[in-house]
Amino acid sequence: MPVITSIDDLKRLYKRRVPKMFYDYCESGSWTEQTFRENTSDFQSLYLRQRVAVDIAGRSTACKMIGQDVAMPVALAPVGLTGMQCADGEIKAARAAEKFGVPFTLSTMSICSIEDVAENTEKPFWFQVYTLRDQDFMRRLLDRAKAAKCSALVITVDLQIMGQRHKDLKNGLSAPPKLTAKSIANMMTKARWGLGMLGTKRRFFGNIVGHATGVSDPGSLSAWTAEAFDQTLDWNKIKAMVDMWDGKVILKGIMDVQDAKMAAQVGADAIVVSNHGGRQLDGALSTIRTISEIVDAVGDKIEIHLDSGIRAGQDVLKARALGATGTMIGRAYIYGLGAMGEQGVTSALSVIQKELDLSMAFCGHRDINSVTRNILQIPKGFTGHWE
Ligand code: GLV
Repeated sequence: MPVITSIDDLKRLYKRRVPKMFYDYCESGSWTEQTFRENTSDFQSLYLRQRVAVDIAGRSTACKMIGQDVAMPVALAPVGLTGMQCADGEIKAARAAEKFGVPFTLSTMSICSIEDVAENTEKPFWFQVYTLRDQDFMRRLLDRAKAAKCSALVITVDLQIMGQRHKDLKNGLSAPPKLTAKSIANMMTKARWGLGMLGTKRRFFGNIVGHATGVSDPGSLSAWTAEAFDQTLDWNKIKAMVDMWDGKVILKGIMDVQDAKMAAQVGADAIVVSNHGGRQLDGALSTIRTISEIVDAVGDKIEIHLDSGIRAGQDVLKARALGATGTMIGRAYIYGLGAMGEQGVTSALSVIQKELDLSMAFCGHRDINSVTRNILQIPKGFTGHWE
């Protein structure tokens, strides 16, 4: 059993164990990948203020996200194709999350269906939707999520069209993978992954195949996105979805103060300051640089979460200090899942919690709820005064 001390350890194992097509899907940003890179590197331009001689016994990272108790301010983000990273991946990740005490968000573009995850877990999970043209399918999707007792709806508002990720096009990304000489040669070197996949029936988009009509290529994420997603989305339509769900709603993909104000106006409970992990608008600012102006504008009106770029507990701490009530991790847990299944997701969560707990203590705090901006040393111009 390898000794895992960091998210990077999991990433290295992940790269070795999972077919290149799915590693690349996870590890890509759009076009030049500038935003993808800066999401992580900008965290490192923000410094933590060391404090000493403070009683740091009896620490806790427990807090609340949208009123739910969480072991730390981290939820598992919706990630498409998770069941291709590891057989039954969504079920494994959801189980790890529930045992750890953090929310799991199931993507519409998952391999395991809403019902698969509900049947294999005890606690309610969150469900993510895109904004789709087929209202009937959309309504049925929300009914299925209600029936599965999902405790929040995460509406992705930044993906009506898809940013181009070069590697996915070159690899011919699909679920299940198309069998070409290249993909077969690569999969032959991933025995553990292949055995897992042979042992499950869940190899297709479980929420879509058999549920949606008029899907021309049921294995292709980009084809379905182009056909089914609603490019005419506006705030009235988002409001209609918020009303349709009639429960907790989180709007994911907010990077602008005006949009954050609209999110509060349409009655969402929270927003995620997110640039989709750098996978959509390449050239957008990193989320850690963006969050402050959004917190200043709407922090008293709506709960604010942050994703994109978090690879360590220190990043979670910095996001909290800048006003995020919670964070979401995507790649950091997918590395764990691809590396070691459910246990790998647990490892990713443990690594992050340990880093968060110790870093919080070094900053002189023993309760995550007491952490403020004072723990940071913020370089001039970091949050920007943008023209
Ligand atoms: C889907 O949301 C993706 O970023 O691939």
